[in-house]
Amino acid sequence: MAPPTDRSGPVVLVKLGGSIITRKNEVEKVRPKVLSRLAKEVAEVRDRRVVLVHGAGSFGHPGAKRFGLAEAPRPGSSPVERARGAAIVAAEVRRLHLMVLRELVRAGASPASVPFATHARNRAGELVHLDPAPIDASLDAGFLPVSFGDVVPDEAWGSSILSADTIALALVPALEPERVVFVSDVEGILEGPPTGRRTVVREVTPEVVAALRSSPGRADVTGGIRGKATVMLAIAAAGVDAGLISGLSDGAVSRAIRGATEYGSWARARST
Ligand code: IPE
Repeated sequence: MAPPTDRSGPVVLVKLGGSIITRKNEVEKVRPKVLSRLAKEVAEVRDRRVVLVHGAGSFGHPGAKRFGLAEAPRPGSSPVERARGAAIVAAEVRRLHLMVLRELVRAGASPASVPFATHARNRAGELVHLDPAPIDASLDAGFLPVSFGDVVPDEAWGSSILSADTIALALVPALEPERVVFVSDVEGILEGPPTGRRTVVREVTPEVVAALRSSPGRADVTGGIRGKATVMLAIAAAGVDAGLISGLSDGAVSRAIRGATEYGSWARARST
């Protein structure tokens, strides 16, 4: 039997992106081998307490788009129809969430499911309230808290999307994690011509993010990356290192959890 996790060790916040745990181009498909390996890497951490959040990938984005859940309701549209869309998407992301929980249990961890739909709310698509207490309580009780990008109540729109990146950022002040590790299917933030050789940006700075914004012809593929880079900068501004690494190579996630920063792109903590 592995020794129990140190209940007072430093906290590391890990986000498994939808791109690494699901097949992006197929509707509602997980990547079973990758998910099972990542669950093991997270479950095997003993000297730190991990708080995990995961994205929705192909279980959430297609439905969210179809039902317009990231946008304001169209004038005259029915709240009942929006609620129906929200319910369908929420059910699908919970199906993925259950698979993540099961893999963690299989890997020997004790995950506690923390759905922020009951502890967070948006206003016009922006997070206005998130109560971190359920995460703290499950950590104190010896669990590995696991949350996920979800459909949450929205004061203006009825319901809207809360991404796991935003959850990670919102949890930073309460958890004061040692670092935040975003895991995706790319090696980091890439720079270079869209068709030529691209290299990983080692250090994410405001200048790097500004350049992403002004890069012509990349709007489609960098929409997600740009948002993530902005979240990483905000985490760094709150005094915590934030990295984006690939989860495709064996052991990269466990190394990053333990403090390795030689792979991926990192936004370094700025003293406030
Ligand atoms: C999206 O969460 C939530 C829904 C679409 C319901 P994320 O934005 O964190 O998911 P990924 O990582 O991009 O797939």
